[in-house]
Parts: sequence; C-alpha cells; structure tokens
Amino acid sequence: MNTENNNRIEKYKGFFNKEYLMGPNSLRLLDEMLTKYPLKEGKRVMDLGCGTGLTSMFLAKEAGVSVFATDLWISAAENAERFKKWGIEDQVIPIHADANTLPFAEGYFDAIVSIDAYHYFGAKKGVFTDKILPFLKPGGVFIAAMPGVKEELTGEAAALLLEWMEGNTKDYDTFHCRRWWLDLIGKSEEFEVVMDLDLDCYEAAWNDWFASGHKYGIKDKTYMDRGMDRYLSFIGLVIQRREK
Ligand SMILES: C[S@@+](CC[C@H](N)C(=O)[O-])C[C@H]1O[C@@H](n2cnc3c(N)ncnc32)[C@H](O)[C@@H]1O
Repeated sequence: MNTENNNRIEKYKGFFNKEYLMGPNSLRLLDEMLTKYPLKEGKRVMDLGCGTGLTSMFLAKEAGVSVFATDLWISAAENAERFKKWGIEDQVIPIHADANTLPFAEGYFDAIVSIDAYHYFGAKKGVFTDKILPFLKPGGVFIAAMPGVKEELTGEAAALLLEWMEGNTKDYDTFHCRRWWLDLIGKSEEFEVVMDLDLDCYEAAWNDWFASGHKYGIKDKTYMDRGMDRYLSFIGLVIQRREK
C-alpha cells in the first residue's frame, strides 16, 4: 500500500478499540477498497451493515460522499448520537433496517458499501440480484469486503473453523473463498464484476482486532495461533450495475 494511504488510516488510530471495532479493522478494509476503487465526491452511498458507523464516518470524511448508515444490530438512535459527537450528522443519516427488506427507493444509490457484513445475509443465491442490485442507479457500484478463506476448507481445517464458530453451522457457512463468491453471484446482463481480490491488509486488520481488547478478539486470536491464520483471507468485490 502507498504512503498516502497509510497516512490516511493513521488519523483514525484512536478508534481502533473495543468501543468501536466489531471485528477485523473495518477502516483498513474500506481504505484498501477505496484506494483500489475510489468513489467520486458528492455521491450518495448506503453503508450496509455499518455497525457503530466507523466506515460511514470514513466515507463521509475521506471520500466526501453523503451516507445512509444502515444497520440491524445497532440502533439508529445510538448511531445518531455518535454521528453528532463526530460532527458528521449533516452528512451521515442513521437508518435501522434489515438488508432483506431495505426501506429505500429503487435506483437511489450511486454506491452500496458493505464492510465485514455482507457474509451475514448475502451468502445465499439471489440475495445480490433481488435485495441489493435494485437499489443501485444504472452505473452504480456495490463494494464489499468480507472475511473468507483462501480456498474452500476440508478436513482438519474445516473442523477447526467449525470449532471456532462453536459448532454453529450458519456462521461456519459464511466463510468462503473468492471463487465461491464469484460463482454465487454469477454472470448477468444486469451487472458486471469489475474487481475481485484477496485484500492485502488482511493481517493488519485482524491484528488491530486482537489488540482492541474485545473479548471476541481475544478468543479469535487463540484460533489464529492454532493455525487458522494459514487459511483465512478477506475477500473484496466491486460489482457495477450496467447502464441500460
Ligand atoms: C461484524 S459487524 C461489522 C460492522 C461494521 N461494518 C464494521 O466493520 O465495523 C456486522 C454488522 O452486520 C450487520 N448485519 C448483519 N445482518 C444484517 C442484516 N440482515 N441487515 C443489516 N445489517 C446486518 C450487523 O448489524 C453488524 O453491525
């Protein structure tokens, strides 16, 4: 990654803690995606699965876009307070909604961004085309980064992942490789996958999570130390809705 990029992330170090992080550092993941696929200033963006809104803040401040910060587990009221505290309340609108039933007009967004969230609801056939794509303008982009694996797991590696997920097959089934995601999304005249990658910042993003002091970060580290780090990756996707 270039120096300019590293400087941009340095400003946010005060947020790399258990109060804000909900998993591997979403700011590093978003920073890398936006470096590789920059958004133009002034665009209208949905941050889908925004959690505590760190990525929404980064989008507003660094990309200069207006943001609909949308999340299921974190209330709009809680995020509204944070956005006021951060001085971004005019640029970032908190929304409480489920990705399966989004309360927006079709064709409303220039971009939908989803960092460390899409795997929770998107790892099923048809979700992208039925629940996400309709909300993009023609020419708009979906930018996602989700935890995954370098190759689909089998044998001992699969057993270790299942143990890490405490036997919960629903959580286990969210970890897939880039090829799996591309096959799931498929091909269509409606959209084009314009970028797919395993993210470079994968290790740094996990390390920030382990260092955050969050109890889940501490638990996750024990599985990295037992060998999970050899298999994991972070998958990045950029998908563009074709112009009509
Ligand atoms: C691990 S957290 C990541 C939050 C944030 N993107 C970040 O990286 O800091 C996953 C987020 O996905 C959101 N999420 C999960 N299922 C969802 C759904 N069906 N609709 C909207 N958001 C969802 C949760 O509310 C949660 O905040």
